[in-house]
Amino acid sequence: MPDAVGGTTGLLAGKRGLIMGVANERSLAWGIAQAAADQGATLAFSYANDAVERRVRAITRDLERAILLPCDVASDEDIDRMAADLARQWPGAPIDFVVHAISYSDKNELLGPYLQTSRRNFAIALDISCYSFTAVAQRLAPLMRPGGNFLTLTYLGAERVIPNYNVMGVAKAALEASVRYLAVDLGARGIRVNAISAGPIKTLASSGVSGMRHLIKWAELNAPMKRNTTIEDVGRAALSLISDLGQGITGEILHVDNGYNVIGMLAVDEALRSVPVLADLGAQAERQKAAADAEVETEVSAEEGDRA
Ligand SMILES: NC(=O)c1ccc[n+]([C@@H]2O[C@H](COP(=O)([O-])OP(=O)(O)OC[C@H]3O[C@@H](n4cnc5c(N)ncnc54)[C@H](O)[C@@H]3O)[C@@H](O)[C@H]2O)c1
Repeated sequence: MPDAVGGTTGLLAGKRGLIMGVANERSLAWGIAQAAADQGATLAFSYANDAVERRVRAITRDLERAILLPCDVASDEDIDRMAADLARQWPGAPIDFVVHAISYSDKNELLGPYLQTSRRNFAIALDISCYSFTAVAQRLAPLMRPGGNFLTLTYLGAERVIPNYNVMGVAKAALEASVRYLAVDLGARGIRVNAISAGPIKTLASSGVSGMRHLIKWAELNAPMKRNTTIEDVGRAALSLISDLGQGITGEILHVDNGYNVIGMLAVDEALRSVPVLADLGAQAERQKAAADAEVETEVSAEEGDRA
């Protein structure tokens, strides 16, 4: 007997989920969407703007019954409209899970020292990368079926200092704290809230972090499993949280990073291959510092010229 929604078999048969944050086939959200669709879920996708819409429309064209909804998460009105659209298109208590895979910072502040973070970019990065999860939970929790859940994406830079991750590390730390507070607020309604802390993966967003290719190589050499994390790894792990397999899990930050978060020092057996990666990152930092110093010198000379 076919289910009212979604596929007929699989961990998510008969369930409906909203996926926020697919930009292209490399997106972590797309890894989760594919895993969820394979397990029978019916999906809706939100997109930030027209350019993203075109890409999301193209890659979701083979998904049966997929709904696409605009939502810039910096706007409460957009989130309200998205919730109303979902309630209309999926009548009744429409949602079983929501995946929030969204972050933003000015990439000019994802290099060099965190000390240089501007007030403006701090506010924008925290708003889009952290507060939006709470804003979405406010609007969508009332539309959730019992046993529903929210999932967001975080990174080790929340817990430890990662070169150039800067304000995003602060935003992710706040996001992880939000997961715990929301888990308590929504637990009484039978709704769970979790996060996956993924290892570094090349995506549009991560390419904004200076030296990301070095971080990825470093993780591959030094993670206990000696391999990089993939969006498929993230998708499979997400299934354990967004399906009923995760019924006893809330407020959790699940590391999906091939074990990288447990290491305390670089892998001795890969030291000779790791050192050049570190040297490259060091050389890049030197070049950035020299460029920043030159810029300050130019500004000082210009000011002196103005005064002369
Ligand atoms: N790639 C990694 O190495 C990595 C590791 C750990 C965690 N994460 C997290 O995974 C999540 C997804 O990032 P990704 O790496 O898949 O990159 P991505 O570029 O594919 O996805 C980021 C998404 O955020 C969306 N977005 C940005 N501003 C928005 C706004 N105002 N409104 C709505 N959407 C907006 C973009 O449109 C895009 O779809 C992010 O939270 C990121 O921090 C990524």
